[in-house]
Amino acid sequence: MLIASSLAQALDLTPAELAGKRLYREGLSSSDAQVSARVGAADMLVPASVVPCGSCHGADGLGRAEGGVRPPPLNWQRLALGQGLRSSNGRTYPAYTESSLARAIQQGRDPAGNRLDPAMPRFVLSMADQRNLTAYLKRLADERDPGVEAQTLRLGTLLPGEGALAGPARVVAAVLEDQIKQLNQQGGIHGRQLQLINVDPGPDLASAERALTQMLEQEQVFALIAPLAPALDATLASRLEQARMPMIGTAPLLTGSTQIFDPLPGLDDQLLSLADYAQSNLMLQQASTQIVYADPAQASFARHLEQQLQNRGWREVKAQALSEQAPEGQALFFLGQGEDFARLTTQLQQVGRTPYLFAAANQVSSQLPQVPEAWSRRVFLAYPFVPDDWTPTGRQTLSDMRRRQGLDGRQGVLQVSTWCAVQLLGDALKRVGRDASREKLIQALEGLHDVQTGLTPPLSFGPGRRQGLAGAHVVTLEMPGPVFYPVAAYRPVAEVIAP
Ligand code: HEC
Repeated sequence: MLIASSLAQALDLTPAELAGKRLYREGLSSSDAQVSARVGAADMLVPASVVPCGSCHGADGLGRAEGGVRPPPLNWQRLALGQGLRSSNGRTYPAYTESSLARAIQQGRDPAGNRLDPAMPRFVLSMADQRNLTAYLKRLADERDPGVEAQTLRLGTLLPGEGALAGPARVVAAVLEDQIKQLNQQGGIHGRQLQLINVDPGPDLASAERALTQMLEQEQVFALIAPLAPALDATLASRLEQARMPMIGTAPLLTGSTQIFDPLPGLDDQLLSLADYAQSNLMLQQASTQIVYADPAQASFARHLEQQLQNRGWREVKAQALSEQAPEGQALFFLGQGEDFARLTTQLQQVGRTPYLFAAANQVSSQLPQVPEAWSRRVFLAYPFVPDDWTPTGRQTLSDMRRRQGLDGRQGVLQVSTWCAVQLLGDALKRVGRDASREKLIQALEGLHDVQTGLTPPLSFGPGRRQGLAGAHVVTLEMPGPVFYPVAAYRPVAEVIAP
């Protein structure tokens, strides 16, 4: 999978602001001189690098709740703009100016002359250092990523309220709300409550584009979680890339985006698991094989898969659109939805052929009870997880959630993938710490390995890995029934480069 690097800086700082940032974060001057600070009631002199501003106020300026006195948020808007009085830690004072700010930092008094708690050190700064620091404090809030506030962290999603996806969207909303509430009841993450904002993507591409723009430009959210807006499949990755917005949820096919982390395997890896099984257990590698796709939009994905199979040594494989005529071939890989799968089996039956059929379960599950008996043990399905993956705890938590939210077993894959998305996001945010940034979130997600969900095989991401699972279980159907037989357990598929 190709992943473009996107470590672009959020904004450009002037040399003075950059020098101020160094002082703020590391306590180091742009000149060679050492900066000192007086700490505690006894005014003990220490190097400022021991007590840089960021160590108490946070790199994001939002402060950390430690001990009795809370460092107030250092945001220029709050400190200096507007007329009224402001207050923190029981002090009331008028707006800061540049000189009263310098006095607070150097002498520990606010604009009203109140003495600041001695937990705030008094810094010994040259005029140049003070100027740089002030310049940076004015920019500090812009440097923060959207959605991160002192007490809250805002997340966004795109769930339609009407149309064919309204039902699945309700399931996703229920799981998100439930899981977020659980996290918040446990105290949130690093002192912040999670908040979820939904923007309805509406019925078509234009409305979905508008919703996405609103989400990226106005809603001030930190990350996207589990959106359901397939109309955006072609553009989502590049829009997120541009906005530097991380997302945890189902990735559109073949995007290879740095920003999107998908808990479950991509369709390509699922079908490759089937191919690997077919190759080693059914000896189909030499068989004439077609990749049949129902939707013209899947043509390039079908060709990608064709190439992958050829790389694996399948000689006679060809991508083919589903048409009026029953496709040839001893093995068919199917791409499309349930009703197209039914159409395919009907066509084949009419010409008296029962080739091996391979498909991703989440695409065709609605039609499985109708699969004709002739295909007993000739249909093979990829499942990201099977009931054997469920631990007693996982099973219990899932059923507790279903009970709380009035959900049943329908849309099980969607429930589990949404569930995993929240768990992965929560785990990553905990690793990020209080100074949350999108860049750190992406690094933290990349650092998640073998995450136990209790409902799936262990999930792992990595610097070049954006899909939590790289393959699927293989399950066959026995008719009548159908009865489901797992025939090969999940194992990551190997990437095979053309010889
Ligand atoms: C050891 C922890 C610590 C460090 C380091 C620290 N501060 Fe503070 N700061 C505090 C605390 C605690 C307060 C709140 C004092 C109070 O309200 O009485 C505070 C208050 C302030 C205030 C007053 C805000 C207001 O609303 O009145 C400013 C401005 C400030 N700090 C700036 C800085 C800057 C700039 C640096 C670095 C040069 C810095 N602080 C380093 C702990 C710290």
